[in-house]
Amino acid sequence: MSSDLMHCVLLSRTTDLRKYLKDEIKRLEGRVAFVDHLDGTNAADVRMAVGWHPHADAFDHYPNLQAACSIGAGADSILACPSLREDIEVVRVVEPAQAQMMSGFVIFHAIWHQRNFATYFAHQRDRIWKRMGQRTTQEVPVGILGYGAIGARVAADLAALGFPVKVWSRSAKPTSEGVTGFHGADGLNAMLDDTEILVNLLPLTTETRNILNAALFAKMRRGGYLIQVGRGEHMVEQDLLDALDNGQLAGAALDVFLAEPLSKEHPFWTHPGIVLTPHDACDVTLPAVGQTILATAEALKAGVKPKDAVDRMRGY
Ligand code: GLV
Repeated sequence: MSSDLMHCVLLSRTTDLRKYLKDEIKRLEGRVAFVDHLDGTNAADVRMAVGWHPHADAFDHYPNLQAACSIGAGADSILACPSLREDIEVVRVVEPAQAQMMSGFVIFHAIWHQRNFATYFAHQRDRIWKRMGQRTTQEVPVGILGYGAIGARVAADLAALGFPVKVWSRSAKPTSEGVTGFHGADGLNAMLDDTEILVNLLPLTTETRNILNAALFAKMRRGGYLIQVGRGEHMVEQDLLDALDNGQLAGAALDVFLAEPLSKEHPFWTHPGIVLTPHDACDVTLPAVGQTILATAEALKAGVKPKDAVDRMRGY
């Protein structure tokens, strides 16, 4: 066995990572040896992991594990694992193509709302010919929660279409042309004021859990629209249903949910104000995951901090 071979364990209780990463596992052969969880490999040889919703005790089995890579932009399912040790670097995938895909997804829903497509869709079904009138993008302010690589791309693209764009982040950040920045608790209220379309792109942390609730919806422009592409745990589901039913929100596009897959009985499926997709807004590409795994393996061999390691204090 080459001493250069990095042992990387596949840790997931929800996804068959060997199958999902099949081509990347093949491509990295000779540089990274992928082992299955508890398959009898000498656990002491394992220095890194690829994870997505790992078992609660997963990390207890690997005393020399130094880094765990997510298979997505979010690393929250690894960070939430009770057996994750403080000294393990958690690495997420950062890929410009993912930001571009997310931007297209958000733009579709923003225009769906701005141009009344839900109404036209319903009218076509009933053969109703009725012009709904038009509003320019300039008349529809968009607020974005989260201004990382993905938020920045979405904000710039919406601004280029003419939407007034406001972004909110934990700390102050420079913004691109046509984008107004807000930060901190006071900044959040100011950002929400008169926001008609709210896009959630926040990482999931203790501070952001349940942030999408009745009090927040009440601060938006009445008849607003929510585009929820963060994590299900960001939203109080009943508060969304109430805001839709009392008219505070006119509609919502939901891609993420508290429990996935969404149960067949869930009221979101049939609510007339909701358009939903099965956590499919935009995945990182598999080559990007492979690249992150390889770069992390190389960083461990070189004894340096892996690129795109999460700041454990901030939680993203
Ligand atoms: C998707 O949810 C991701 O984290 O990339």
